Amino acid sequence: MNRASVRARIVGTGMYVPERVVTNDELASMMDTSDEWIQQRTGIRERRWVNDGQTPVDLAKAACLQALESAELEIGDVDCILLATLSPQHDFPGTSFFLHEELKAGEIPCIDLRAQCSGFLYALNFGDALITSGKHERVMVVGCEVHSTGLDISTNGRDVTVIFGDGAGALILEANRDEEDPAGILQIRLHAQGRHAKRLWIEAPSSGTSPRLDQQMLDEGRHFPRMEGRQVFKHAVTRMPEVLLEALSAASIKVDDVNLFLFHQANLRINEFVSQKLEIPEEKVFSNIQRFGNCSAASIPMLLAEVDRNRQLERGGIVCMTAFGSGFTWGSAVLRW
Ligand code: UT7
Repeated sequence: MNRASVRARIVGTGMYVPERVVTNDELASMMDTSDEWIQQRTGIRERRWVNDGQTPVDLAKAACLQALESAELEIGDVDCILLATLSPQHDFPGTSFFLHEELKAGEIPCIDLRAQCSGFLYALNFGDALITSGKHERVMVVGCEVHSTGLDISTNGRDVTVIFGDGAGALILEANRDEEDPAGILQIRLHAQGRHAKRLWIEAPSSGTSPRLDQQMLDEGRHFPRMEGRQVFKHAVTRMPEVLLEALSAASIKVDDVNLFLFHQANLRINEFVSQKLEIPEEKVFSNIQRFGNCSAASIPMLLAEVDRNRQLERGGIVCMTAFGSGFTWGSAVLRW
């Protein structure tokens, strides 16, 4: 079998969010904000936050078990785990290693990927490459974030804090060699521009300072995420359509031929801009930011799991997933379901 005829198709999806619902009104009791401001500017109504003691691995494990169940597979059938996150459980080793133990994954390789809100698409790209190169038969790709334990819940942090939520999504990629079955990833295009790294970042702790974290940094709130929101917004609404068209053109697919668009869930207004620019009808865009907020690397796999669960997509349909995030990073993936 020649390598070019192997495609990576999705055979299972899963997602998990913590039970604790945090409404906009609850945030308004902690800081100077309002349900009206948050809904108008972002579309978000509520998000989920972990309960005390609940870890990123707890979320990721639940999503992975659901993905395995939906694929009717066991962890022993998986050859590799790729986990995208910007909120690792510990500095090292990566979250994937703790997940590996929880899943009883034997001795298969695992790795964390850090490309922030585009992290899932970066991980998908590597998963696709591992399969189409013939290296692995099945790869588990996970996006997992716990933002809530690291947010500034005072008015100082309100621009960032109101948009983020906790959650995890997972899928299983499998080598598809069936020439009668066209399902699989068609194209992925990724980009980065490190020049903008400090426009959305967490400065401390940093291995570039000694000590990595001190009282002054804590007092100055340098351990909280900081964002130049307007700049991020401006870049997102330019880069997302650009890369989406780049990926579709590489796959020789027209915007009109796409059945479902899954955009990173950073801000509903960003996604409305992108849809308007490309004349994408509302019914072809699925969103869950209203219920879950921005779950960074977990947002797209969570969307995919919901779509799969609700049977919103017919086999053979074209899905286009597009993200933008800190780094800056952006990317788009096109697949046949
Ligand atoms: O997922 C990774 C990528 N992230 C993104 O794509 C996020 C992109 N950025 C955004 O979505 C928007 O910039 C935000 C939703 C974060 C903020 O909306 P904005 O329209 O850009 O607001 P702004 O930061 O320009 O602030 C406008 C006003 C300011 O008040 P003044 O100076 O006009 O008096 C802010 O202090 O809104 C104020 N403000 C708030 N007011 C109530 C900022 N955050 C809040 C808040 N509640 N949560």
